[in-house]
Amino acid sequence: MEVTKIDKSNMRKTILDFPKQFKVGVNAAKKTHLEKWSFLTPPENIIVCGMGGSALPGDILVTLRPLDVFSYKSYRLPLQAGNESLIICISYSGNTEETLSSFETAVGRNLPVISITTGGKLAELSKKYKVPCVILPPPYVPPRLALGQMFAALLQVLKNHNLLDDPIINDLLKLGNSLKPADFELKGKKIAKEIFGRIPIIYNSRRFRVVGTIWKNSLNETAKILALANYFPELNHNEIVGLWRINESQISNDKIYVLILRDKESSHPRILKQMEITKNFIEKEGIGVEFIEIKGKNLLEKFFSTIILGFWTSFWLAMEYKVDPTQIKPIDEFKRKLKEK
Ligand code: PA5
Repeated sequence: MEVTKIDKSNMRKTILDFPKQFKVGVNAAKKTHLEKWSFLTPPENIIVCGMGGSALPGDILVTLRPLDVFSYKSYRLPLQAGNESLIICISYSGNTEETLSSFETAVGRNLPVISITTGGKLAELSKKYKVPCVILPPPYVPPRLALGQMFAALLQVLKNHNLLDDPIINDLLKLGNSLKPADFELKGKKIAKEIFGRIPIIYNSRRFRVVGTIWKNSLNETAKILALANYFPELNHNEIVGLWRINESQISNDKIYVLILRDKESSHPRILKQMEITKNFIEKEGIGVEFIEIKGKNLLEKFFSTIILGFWTSFWLAMEYKVDPTQIKPIDEFKRKLKEK
């Protein structure tokens, strides 16, 4: 297989370089600060607006700070947005309609807003309305693979406003040096071979829900396949029935493969028991299933090492299917149609 012929934009290098993005994001955001920081106390909540790949930094932040952070993926602003909110709009391209709508709504309501982008309309409007804006530098990569820099920039923006007092940024920068994507490539290649020709289903605990979603999105966009994601314990109260005596007129059981992302160290013991029971059940149904063990010294490492494994799996699956991993024609086409009057 001629990898360089299929991987026309060299996504493989982007994955290998992924951890370097943490420093890039932190540096890009160091000086971005609201001039009139009017909160005497911290804002009541932080609303991170973005779509697709640009929504992922907000989703991860929600996992780390579920009490005061909301991730919003639609037009305008959610009900949680009030006068005591801080709004952060992220769009890698700067041209995503829904995110621009959230931005304009926030500006229109005179709410404190900060943007993170590589340019586009979001950068233009930020300049026009004097909104602090983090400009992410080249080399440009697909938004879903720019997660490292967007997440790091988001954290740095919070730090600039004293809204982040734990050592998470230092941990992230350390991870930028220690995490070696090459260590996970073979495993990703192996998983890709197993799920080739099948619909992968990604299961994990609730804490790793965003990681499961990133696997699913990455399989959709990079490998161009359908994929499903769900989490324990909820899936054992509905989806499990869908895997029982697979209805051959819908799909045959050899066309499905279940990957269970498992963190043995920090999961509730009953969740680990549920995972075992579910794996046995799936096996008995004649469906391929395996545990993918989540490893890392802290939650950040567990998240990003597993995310990178997901990137590799999708990348090598794209190689198996011989499709360019970078291009996302249906999304581009959809956005073009949406712009038509
Ligand atoms: O992966 C992708 O390219 C998409 O999910 C985009 O991130 C999404 O369409 C939003 O675009 P942007 O990230 O440029 O705001």
